[in-house]
Amino acid sequence: MASEKVLAYLDANRQQHVDQLCEFLRIPSISSVSEHNEDTKRAAAFVADELRELGLAVEVHDLGGHPLIFAETEIRPDRKTLLFYGHYDVQPVDPLELWETPPFEPRIEDGIVYARGSSDDKGQVYTHIKALEAYIREGVEVPVNVKFIIEGEEECGGHSIYEFTEKNPEKLSCDAIIVSDTTLYNETTPGICYSLKGLAYMEIRVSGPAMDLHSGSYGGTVQNPGNALAEIVAKLKDSDGRCLVPGFYDDVLDLDQEERDGFAALGYTDEILQKETGVVAPFGEAGYTTLERMWARPTCDVNGLVSGYGGEGAKTVIPAKAMAKVSMRLVPNQDPEKIAKAFQDYVRQIAPDGVEVEVINHHNANPVLVPRKSEMMKAGMAALEKGFGAPPVFIREGGSIPIVGTFQDCLKSPVLLLGYGLATDNIHSPNEKFHLENFWRGARTSAILMAEAAL
Ligand code: BES
Ligand code: MN
Ligand code: MN
Repeated sequence: MASEKVLAYLDANRQQHVDQLCEFLRIPSISSVSEHNEDTKRAAAFVADELRELGLAVEVHDLGGHPLIFAETEIRPDRKTLLFYGHYDVQPVDPLELWETPPFEPRIEDGIVYARGSSDDKGQVYTHIKALEAYIREGVEVPVNVKFIIEGEEECGGHSIYEFTEKNPEKLSCDAIIVSDTTLYNETTPGICYSLKGLAYMEIRVSGPAMDLHSGSYGGTVQNPGNALAEIVAKLKDSDGRCLVPGFYDDVLDLDQEERDGFAALGYTDEILQKETGVVAPFGEAGYTTLERMWARPTCDVNGLVSGYGGEGAKTVIPAKAMAKVSMRLVPNQDPEKIAKAFQDYVRQIAPDGVEVEVINHHNANPVLVPRKSEMMKAGMAALEKGFGAPPVFIREGGSIPIVGTFQDCLKSPVLLLGYGLATDNIHSPNEKFHLENFWRGARTSAILMAEAAL
């Protein structure tokens, strides 16, 4: 257990830590919008300054994208080392009109802070910094060596952290990698996440006539890109929700009975899903429960679909182009490159005549699976139980954190996914929020983990 002094410091400084978090949240570090490059730099500087003030050796690397921060405490070989990962960049804010208050003017209401990045991931990564601060400011020896790697390109598919990790495995060497960028199971139950989905993100571009055509003058004489794209999209999945890309399920690691029983015991109901999402009924691959589909089955979903006229009233055109973005969320042991290639081949094969079809693979992420039994897992579970006051349950996530698979491959250390957010935090969506109670409990958990991992 972390010393009482350390935990008392975190309790005594709750308000100050929230104020500082709000300062961090005011920086609009949207990594995918170049207009915000200076802001993204400022967010990196905010993090680097805090770590420097705590006496860490801090490096800020420019690898052609947004700054990558590496920092470490004095490394003593007789101690274990924890590497904390997080990201200071955030998603774009549109549609802006749906925000109740501006995304970069943090608002606190009923113990919840509303701002872009509050849960994903500034609020979560900040818990690690405050946990370390507690040891240092109280003059309590930190029981482990601590390293940080904090990036600014998680949300935009940047390469800096991959390059750095591949080139510097020694620098990043550690006994465990700690990632807080996922969720609790629910408001009262923490979760220890042992699997992230991977991703293959595709774009289909269909082009037909050189310009939009009058739909009367030319209707019936040429292939319509909108119709052609609809035909393609309709063949991506069957009506039972199964993906029709050949070989899609070949490498999927099936759930074992223990996992299925574990999921079932969590008592997630379709009513909860309906309440969380506002849908009239759940839908998905036949033969699996909602949680099984959410956490452990691969998916294929349109993320964007654009063609022709979408404005007010009617406009009679055959559009020159049509475009769809499609994400495939993958599970262990699917290979994103192999799946992306199978998708490209399939779309080209089913594309109707009379249009040109281009299929682009934007970015990929490897799925992650963490062994559920290890010493570090035990330390993580103990820390969560003490930090949140309830024993954690095993969970998986439908989201992806692309670098984690690379960490596993290059560093060969166990990964601990200790999420402090909630599924209902509206990450990537208007009115993103983070519960302050989870921020404070998260900081306690991180502090306790530093002690538990040392045992
Ligand atoms: N923190 C999320 C991942 C996540 C999402 C965890 C939902 C738990 C629940 C991360 O920042 C993220 O958004 N990842 C992207 C990766 C993509 C941009 C390559 C994702 O999952 O869409
Ligand atoms: Mn994130
Ligand atoms: Mn995100």
